[in-house]
Amino acid sequence: MTVAHRFLEFCSDHLAKVNAAGLTTAIRKVSGSSLSRKINLNGQLVTNFCSLNYMGYGDDERVISAMLENVQKYGTGLASSRTVLDSEQHCLFEDELALFKRSSGCKLINTGYNASYGIMEILCKSPNSFGVRSGLPRAHVFYDALVHASIRESLGNNQINSTAYKHLNYDNLEDRISKNKEDEITKFIVTDSIFSMHGGIADVKKLLEIAKKYDALLILDNAHSDGIYGREGRGIAEMQGITSEEDLKYIFNAGTLSKTFSQMGGFITLPKDFSDVVPLSHYGYIFSVALPTFQVATLRTVLAMIIGEDGDRRRRKLHDTSEFLRHTLKEKGFDIGNSVSHIAPVMVGDEGVCKRAEHSLVEKGIFVKAIHWPAVKKGGALLRLALTANHDFEDVEHLTESLVRVRDKLRF
Ligand SMILES: Cc1ncc(COP(=O)(O)O)c(C=O)c1O
Repeated sequence: MTVAHRFLEFCSDHLAKVNAAGLTTAIRKVSGSSLSRKINLNGQLVTNFCSLNYMGYGDDERVISAMLENVQKYGTGLASSRTVLDSEQHCLFEDELALFKRSSGCKLINTGYNASYGIMEILCKSPNSFGVRSGLPRAHVFYDALVHASIRESLGNNQINSTAYKHLNYDNLEDRISKNKEDEITKFIVTDSIFSMHGGIADVKKLLEIAKKYDALLILDNAHSDGIYGREGRGIAEMQGITSEEDLKYIFNAGTLSKTFSQMGGFITLPKDFSDVVPLSHYGYIFSVALPTFQVATLRTVLAMIIGEDGDRRRRKLHDTSEFLRHTLKEKGFDIGNSVSHIAPVMVGDEGVCKRAEHSLVEKGIFVKAIHWPAVKKGGALLRLALTANHDFEDVEHLTESLVRVRDKLRF
């Protein structure tokens, strides 16, 4: 048997095992928009609780009109790396994002994943040939055990010295960081500000206190919180009252443009002197075409809406429905872990049962995704409920009542 045949055989065996475990890889396909409150799933209209269109800007008429105008104005793409031909719109948006996160510097990165992956590489990788790290001591990263895969992958692939601390357990973090006796080391604490699968929120105030005590810097992945939390949507740090310039100097951020902004792309905010080096050092920036200009121009419109009254109104609605969802789920006896946000998991455990629950909910006109390994630990399958500002209280009632019926049928 040739290597090509052996490989194909391995692939079909693997797929058979995945299917046998009830983890079919068949992804549901939506015809029409996938980010609306109601979506068309194989001809059936269902209420969508999977979209990360958290603030509802992805199907907002004004945003869509602005985007159409911007395509007319700027064409379909940038068609070059920004190191070859830069764009005014990209630079203006970076300045606005830096201001949004109260940082002195910002760089756009092509996806949220690459922003989180990249910020670790840029700040923490051992001295490399590209120059950005030269002169800085080696890094040691202390990270929440449930931090996003992009960060864990970057730590591993870049061979960055790192230690995990127990999820949201800051005594454990302090224990780990206080035992680190490496000389000439830059310590970083890394966490998601909202955890994507379980909906827990990091105590950034506490983390900042620990960072200061042990002379460390803090890196936040704000993919699920920017735009939604804080008075002006500036994120969890703003919500927790961290607004002084002095405190914000300790915090570096990675963000996405795919969730609250409902488009695509990511960004990192760093002190300007550091972010200015990115075009000289970060291969993902140098050797890849940047986001299309029409998109960046539209993202600027969305950011203005997020900060303003429009964002305020959407935030209030989303917080009210989220509180109602968590309260109702708990009242009905569901285990929602440590969720205190617009993301609420319903813990199921068994992967097969969780998948069956997903199917049963579709029959009741609800689309909720069963999440299983590798997104969560084996045996820790859950139904991930995500609310957006487009959902109403009636949607939440329909969801929770359907969940009760499905739980009674499947006995989880
Ligand atoms: C915490 C976190 N960071 C980064 C990302 C990647 O963002 P994007 O999908 O925009 O690449 C995600 C994706 O869901 C995420 O949950």
